[in-house]
Amino acid sequence: MVNKLKEITAIAEKRGFFFPTAEIYGGKAGLYTYGHLGKLMKNKFEWLWKCYFLEENFWEIEGNSILPEAVFKASGHLKNFNDPLTECKNCHFRFRADEIIEDVLDKNAEGLSVKDMDSLIKKHKLKCPKCGSQQLTKVEWFNMMFPISIGAVGGKDVAYLSPETAQNPFLSFKREFEALRKKLPFGLAMIGKVFRNEISPRQLFFRLREFTQAELQIFFDPSEIDTHTEWKKIAKYKLLLQTVKDRKGDKVKAVSCEEVNKKLKLPKLYVFYMQQIQKFYLEELGIPKDKFRFHELSSEEKAFYTKLHWDVQLNLESLGGFKEITGLHYRTDYDLEAHQKHSKKELSVYLERKKKRVLPHVIELSFGVDRNIFALLDIFFKQEKERNLFSFPSAIAPIEVGVFPLVSKDGLPEMTKEIYGELRKNHISCFYDEDGSIGRRYRRIDEIGVPFAVTVDYQTMKDKSVTIRERDSMKQKRVKISELAKHLK
Ligand code: GAP
Repeated sequence: MVNKLKEITAIAEKRGFFFPTAEIYGGKAGLYTYGHLGKLMKNKFEWLWKCYFLEENFWEIEGNSILPEAVFKASGHLKNFNDPLTECKNCHFRFRADEIIEDVLDKNAEGLSVKDMDSLIKKHKLKCPKCGSQQLTKVEWFNMMFPISIGAVGGKDVAYLSPETAQNPFLSFKREFEALRKKLPFGLAMIGKVFRNEISPRQLFFRLREFTQAELQIFFDPSEIDTHTEWKKIAKYKLLLQTVKDRKGDKVKAVSCEEVNKKLKLPKLYVFYMQQIQKFYLEELGIPKDKFRFHELSSEEKAFYTKLHWDVQLNLESLGGFKEITGLHYRTDYDLEAHQKHSKKELSVYLERKKKRVLPHVIELSFGVDRNIFALLDIFFKQEKERNLFSFPSAIAPIEVGVFPLVSKDGLPEMTKEIYGELRKNHISCFYDEDGSIGRRYRRIDEIGVPFAVTVDYQTMKDKSVTIRERDSMKQKRVKISELAKHLK
């Protein structure tokens, strides 16, 4: 497990997926840079996400990372967006109280009060993870938002770096509703940077202080929460679920959408998006079924703004088991109601067809893009006798084709560069390399997950054909250059 994490991190840093920011100054925990491969992969993930989730009347907007204090007073983040902090009186190391409880006592500490955490720390004589002292301060709540001050007014105009993209669609809802077809359901998505002052960022690239979220807020008429026009098509589809009860014994059950609606009492609209999300992971990203589950959060664990909360968890060997990657939240009218109250602006809307006013409710899909990228690296990493590889599906592979001359002489490089240019014109992301033996070049692209290699050899000169090598099977076949782009696509 530790080795897999080390291997992936070493390849990521060496080959340009991700690496610590400001490394030359010693870096800063929780800040990472995407190198050229990581950025290509992130772009692809975001594009795929948009193509998949932005259905009819769902749109993308781009708001701000800096938002005024009033927004977070209304949203409840100033009061509730906290982590439990304790400090070692001996070495002054500050860390999360819930994490030390989870690590040492192997007990889920999410949702515990500070009093409960204090008692557990005392009862089990928990120690500072850094110096081993038992002298820890009382647990306090620590707000995770980064405050900033706007302009040259000496800290009077307070704002915060936003800890979720979600607030932007809530703030823009009324304008966009008016600008579009004044119809519900209506979706506003935003992909953007968010910031959280994590007390102890760990698990490297997995828990960050600056990261990207891809979130979709679906605004709907609350009287329609138990309907969906496509329901019949998905009713028999089986969701992979771990309810709170199933945690004992770590069980996952396959339950049809119909049963989830009837027996678990989850509304059809919510179940519909569970199904959409599961299909995205299994069919678009190619995640194996046994590595995927929806994990129900208990009422103590749920975020303060949500009524229903199930997370997507993926089994990541390098991090020791199932980890939260994505959330599906039923936020009700919590946010619109709060912004309406604090701004004193009417946020309900008139539905012409139904002749009524409603304050819409919201279902939120909340994807952490970076965690998804890390999960893909973990799940598709393979070590074989003679090579390391990422067996990414083409849809998310950072580069799709390596284009090589067999040797770098006799006109082969020139011919290869022509083919490389043609493939680029066909919007196939490719990479040219003529350094080292052909075997080494194949290994190098396997290590970064390129699905195909095209090799130009002496036969190409004779019959205008090239070989295509497939990464996972390493099988090769010959294809005419005139059919190459079509064949690869
Ligand atoms: N708008 C709802 C929201 O922000 P969340 O559960 O706090 O919900 C959503 O965050 C997703 O953002 C998580 O499922 C995770 O993928 C990602 N995320 C949260 N904290 C993170 C962190 N410190 N580093 C990287 N990703 C994080």
